[in-house]
Amino acid sequence: MTDDQDPGTPQGVGRTALGVAYARAVESARPDRLFDDPYAALFLRAAAPAEGGPGTGGLGRSEAWTEMSAHLVLRTAYFDDYLRDAVTEAGCTQVVLLAAGLDARAFRLDWPDGVRLFELDLPEMVAFKERVLAEADARPRVERQVVTADLREDWAAPLRAAGFDPARPTAWMVEGLLIYLEAEDAAALLRRIGALSAPGSRLALVRDGSLRRTRELARRDPAMAGATRLWRGGLRRDHAQWLRRHGWLVHEIREQELRERYGAERVSEGHGFLLAERPLPVERPRRPAARLLVLDPDGSVFLQLHHDAEVGPHWVLPGGGLEPGEAPLAGALRETVEETGWTDVVTGPALWRWEHDYHRGDVGLVRQHEVIYLASAPHRDPIGDLTASFAADGILTCRWFTPKELAEVTEVLWPPQLVSLLEDLRRDGPPAEPIDLGYVPNPQEPGSDG
Ligand SMILES: C[S@@+](CC[C@H](N)C(=O)[O-])C[C@H]1O[C@@H](n2cnc3c(N)ncnc32)[C@H](O)[C@@H]1O
Repeated sequence: MTDDQDPGTPQGVGRTALGVAYARAVESARPDRLFDDPYAALFLRAAAPAEGGPGTGGLGRSEAWTEMSAHLVLRTAYFDDYLRDAVTEAGCTQVVLLAAGLDARAFRLDWPDGVRLFELDLPEMVAFKERVLAEADARPRVERQVVTADLREDWAAPLRAAGFDPARPTAWMVEGLLIYLEAEDAAALLRRIGALSAPGSRLALVRDGSLRRTRELARRDPAMAGATRLWRGGLRRDHAQWLRRHGWLVHEIREQELRERYGAERVSEGHGFLLAERPLPVERPRRPAARLLVLDPDGSVFLQLHHDAEVGPHWVLPGGGLEPGEAPLAGALRETVEETGWTDVVTGPALWRWEHDYHRGDVGLVRQHEVIYLASAPHRDPIGDLTASFAADGILTCRWFTPKELAEVTEVLWPPQLVSLLEDLRRDGPPAEPIDLGYVPNPQEPGSDG
C-alpha cells in the first residue's frame, strides 16, 4: 500500500470495482445517459486515488479504456434490464450478485415486493462499500443481504446461511468476475450456480469474443496494467456451449438487437450478451419430422446449419416437420425442395429413426420424432433465392461435406452418430428395415447439473 491510499480502499482485484464505478459515474453525468448511478461517484470520492487509476487523468488518454468503459456502460444498461425483466416478467424472487463490487442496483433500481437480493464479495470490498453506504445513510430498495465470501471456495454455505433458498427461482449476476478467475475456478463457480438454480432461474453473461479487441488493446496499455495483470483468463471455453451442456437454455443477444435498444453509437462491433434460463419442467410436445440423407455421386453429404437455445449450432439434413396427415417421405421431399430448390432429388428407402429434444423459438421445448430416408442428387449449390425459406426455417448456411470433413465437424450433428452411421451405410448398404436409434439425448458434459 502506498502512503496516499486510505487503508479502507480495496486493493488488488477489489481495485477493479473502482474502475467500473468510474465508468458508471462518467456515464451518469451525461445528458444522454443510459442509466443513473449516483452511488458510483460517492464510492470514488471515498476511495483514495491510486496512481494512474480512475479519476487521475491517466485513463482518459487510453484508447483501451475508452473502449472498455463503453463496454462497461453497455453492460450495466443491459444487466439492469436483465434484472428488471427477471424479477417482473420471469418471476425470479431472489437475486444474487456474485462479486458485487460497488454495484448499487439494490439502491438505485425499483424492485417488486418480496424480492430478496444477496451480494457477495471479498471482505475488504464489503467493508469499504458498507462503510461508504452507511456514511451516506443509503437505504436499499429491496431486502438486501451482504455475504463475505471468496468465490473460489464454497460460497454456497454462507449464501444459504444468509437465507438464500435454492428452491426459489433466482436471477444470477456474474458481472466482471470470470476474467479474474482461473478456468477451473470459473467452471466450479458456474457449476455451483447450476446446482443452486431452481427451474425458472436466469443467468446473464457477456458473450464470448465481445471483448477480444478491447482486451488485446488493454494488455498492451500501461494505463490498464492495474487490471490486466490480475486477469487469469476465466472459463476459456465457449460460454454459451458450456452452459447448454450444463442444463441451461441459452439465448444470444446480438449486436443488432442491442443497437436498436441502446442506440447504434453505444454498441461496439461484435458486442453481445448471453441470457441463460433454467427450463421449467414441461411435457414436450411430440413433433413428427422427416429428412433426406442426400448424397452426391462421390458420397459427400448435404447439411444445413441451424442454431437453437437448447442445442446451440448444429448441422441438420434437409427436411423438417410434417404437415397434418402428410406421409413422412412426401414431407421430407417437400421440405427439401423448399430449402434447396432441387426438384430432381431421387429418394430411396428409410434408413434410420430417432427421437431428440430441441428448442423451437415459436413453441419452446419439443421432442422430435424423425425418420431419415436415403436420397441422391448432383453436387451443386441450392438453386434460386432461398432467403425467405432459410429465414423461415432458421437455416444459417448450408454446404456439402466429404466423409473426412464430416468427421472433423466441431458443432453438433443430427443425429450425433451420423459419421458412424454413414460408415455402416457405405460398408453394408441400406438396412432391410429402418434402424431405430431410439431417444438420443443432446450432448451433456460430465458434472453437468441438467
Ligand atoms: C471488475 S469488479 C466488478 C464488480 C461488479 N460486479 C460490477 O460490475 O460493478 C470485480 C469484482 O470481483 C471481486 N472478486 C474478484 N475475485 C473474487 C473472489 N475470488 N471472490 C470474491 N470476489 C472476487 C472483486 O472484489 C471486485 O469487486
